[in-house]
Amino acid sequence: MLGQRKSLADVTRHEEGRALAKTLSWPHLIALGVGAIVGTGIYTLTGVGAERAGPAVILAFAIAGAVCACAALAYAELATMIPAAGGAYTFSYAALGETAAWVVGWSLILEYSLACSTVAVGWSGYLVGWIQSAGVTLPPALLAGPHGGGLVNLPAVAVALAVMGLLVAGTRESATLNIVLVVVKLAALAVFIVFALPAFDPTNLHPFMPYGFAAAESGGHKRGVMAAAAIVFFAFYGFDAVATSAEEAKRPGRDLTIGIVGSMLVCTAIYMAVAVAAIGALPFTRLANSPEPLALVLRSLGQPLAGHLIALAAVIALPSVILVMMYGQSRIFFVMARDGLLPRGLATVSVRSGAPTRITLLTGVAIAVVAGLFRLDEIAELANAGTLLAFIAAGACLMVLRRTAPDAPRLFRCPLPNVVGSLAILGCLYLLWSLPSATIARFLLWNAAGLLFYLAYGRTRGLRRTAAARRP
Ligand code: ALA
Repeated sequence: MLGQRKSLADVTRHEEGRALAKTLSWPHLIALGVGAIVGTGIYTLTGVGAERAGPAVILAFAIAGAVCACAALAYAELATMIPAAGGAYTFSYAALGETAAWVVGWSLILEYSLACSTVAVGWSGYLVGWIQSAGVTLPPALLAGPHGGGLVNLPAVAVALAVMGLLVAGTRESATLNIVLVVVKLAALAVFIVFALPAFDPTNLHPFMPYGFAAAESGGHKRGVMAAAAIVFFAFYGFDAVATSAEEAKRPGRDLTIGIVGSMLVCTAIYMAVAVAAIGALPFTRLANSPEPLALVLRSLGQPLAGHLIALAAVIALPSVILVMMYGQSRIFFVMARDGLLPRGLATVSVRSGAPTRITLLTGVAIAVVAGLFRLDEIAELANAGTLLAFIAAGACLMVLRRTAPDAPRLFRCPLPNVVGSLAILGCLYLLWSLPSATIARFLLWNAAGLLFYLAYGRTRGLRRTAAARRP
């Protein structure tokens, strides 16, 4: 195994002043889950997926959902067995050792921060579409980064910084506000289905797979059902953000199981309905790469009011996804710093709000910069790469801990752990392989830089130093 492992007892024991307050119960957690899961993936990347797979983007949603369901089951068992902040990073520390935990934690930083940036850019697309559909023209240079022919995506920067402010104000208020936003987001999707489904035209489904099944690259773009699955995968994750808040759950066993499995099931059902309604209503070529595909469908069906409403709902509610992801991100950073793998000065918890303020400020600014400068699909793909690695680790941890800690109490037992764990690993590897090669190269670079940092800094300061400090 790779380096020193944490004992299961160590994972849940923390130094005084460095433990997070237990403020969350299952309604908060399910809202955190749905809040993180339903977002730019379904609201915006449906268009990118249609461009890559044609009508078979519906199939791509099903494939990505099935892989995520396996990972969700693994997460549910691990999160109830190890109710400590940090998600896949913490599981890996206990099951696979410090070096593997570092790689997973470093990938999670990529996942959460770039997911926030992606959603901020998706939010900007709906805001701008909404304002412009009311006849107001905005300066294009301030609506897109250099990749999109502008200077900076100012709305995306603004929303990232605003959410950062909410989190700094404290977990509890943020989680409660999140519940209201989740209701708005789901109601808007219900409205979409009600208006779009009656316009279902079966001819829009032919040809169903114009670019084939396996991802094939041409001219720097990958196309095919798997290429679409690798991007719409973004729409499904977020339930792991619930696992990262395990340390703050009041009753981790019951609360986390309901939070993770429940939010995953609810969202999968909603997505399938939305994808079928969108693809059935318009030829996929019209959806492709629209910055606001769901609003576009409704406007094209002669329902401008419903189009305005869904855009407004996206504008009001997508920040809840950023909220949950930024929350998860700051907690990963916090736990890694508490373990000594990142500078420990970052792991200070605010006395007033119980939240790690410094880390939240640091990551919030980085997220805003990326959102301001880069392109939606590229950011989403890199976020997906980080997430896929974390899910692979979760599948491995599930199987390893069943062998190394068979008698440890598990409040939720994943059925057929070897089958589910293997399917999660193989499915995620296939999705990773289906990402564009430029994304895979960027992901490898990120991890190479991370490993260099680990060798130069974290390895000498990690668990061994923490253990030495605890000795009387
Ligand atoms: N699943 C989240 C979304 O679709 C990240 O925005």
